[in-house]
Amino acid sequence: MKTSATHPPPFDSLADSFDDELPDSRLLRKRIWHHLPDYLNNCRHLLELGCGTGVDALQFAERGIKVTATDSSPKMLSKLREKAGRHPQGVYITPRLLDMNHLPSARDFIAEIESSPEGSALRYDVVFTNFGAINCVGDLNKLAGFLWDALNENGYFIAVVMNRCCPIEIAYHLLRLQPKKAFRRFTDGRPVSLGNGESVEVWYPTPRAFSRQCTPYFTRVATYGVGVFLPPPYLTGKIEQKERLQSALFRHESRIADLYPATVMSDLYLIVLQKASGKKD
Ligand SMILES: C[S@@+](CC[C@H](N)C(=O)[O-])C[C@H]1O[C@@H](n2cnc3c(N)ncnc32)[C@H](O)[C@@H]1O
Repeated sequence: MKTSATHPPPFDSLADSFDDELPDSRLLRKRIWHHLPDYLNNCRHLLELGCGTGVDALQFAERGIKVTATDSSPKMLSKLREKAGRHPQGVYITPRLLDMNHLPSARDFIAEIESSPEGSALRYDVVFTNFGAINCVGDLNKLAGFLWDALNENGYFIAVVMNRCCPIEIAYHLLRLQPKKAFRRFTDGRPVSLGNGESVEVWYPTPRAFSRQCTPYFTRVATYGVGVFLPPPYLTGKIEQKERLQSALFRHESRIADLYPATVMSDLYLIVLQKASGKKD
């Protein structure tokens, strides 16, 4: 994603209405949160990338976890600051501007957090990124190197990534005679419209490609499918009033989504990687 002093970050203009759309991702987020607690047992400090308005950051804070919540959009971060200011555990959250495509050194980044009045992290126990923020990253290997430096020994890097092959999306657009849209995820680095006149370059790695690009810094621990039966957020309106259908889809999702090949045929996948031991270089 390109940002410059004269051109505000593309997600800025989505910040005001971002939380209005959250109900559309409610069921998918519920599936994601079903898996997260398994990896949060010993987590005291968490780094979130592409945090948006902080819907997950606040949930981590509610569990007593200190969160450095980062995003490249200043407006998303101001929304998060407002929400954290009204929340009893909001003090656990330190919002920070961080563009995953223009990273400082991890040492500089952590030194800055430590020297701020609210920060006390030495290294992070977990890095988390949700709902495809990481699909905007062109060089995953470089990001993985940064995260290796930022994490404690055995720390987890948990990413929720837009999958390459989403059968529901393919079927929906083919039925509407939109083959280009149906197969859009098979072209990497293509500008995708955000619907606000802005566009961002997006990559769609498969789970295997994702973990390969994080080598040698991380090894894969687990992969869970998210959105095998549950539709992508932009199609949620189609099942909004149909509660029995929603429950049936959710039941099927719970049974099947984490089994291969469902993990490579879903809207999103949650991938858990663990910091590889040894020296980086
Ligand atoms: C779809 S939203 C997801 C927000 C949040 N993770 C959630 O689950 O609600 C994508 C977020 O990624 C952020 N983002 C996009 N590209 C980024 C980059 N290169 N570095 C940091 N954040 C980025 C956007 O500003 C936006 O807040």
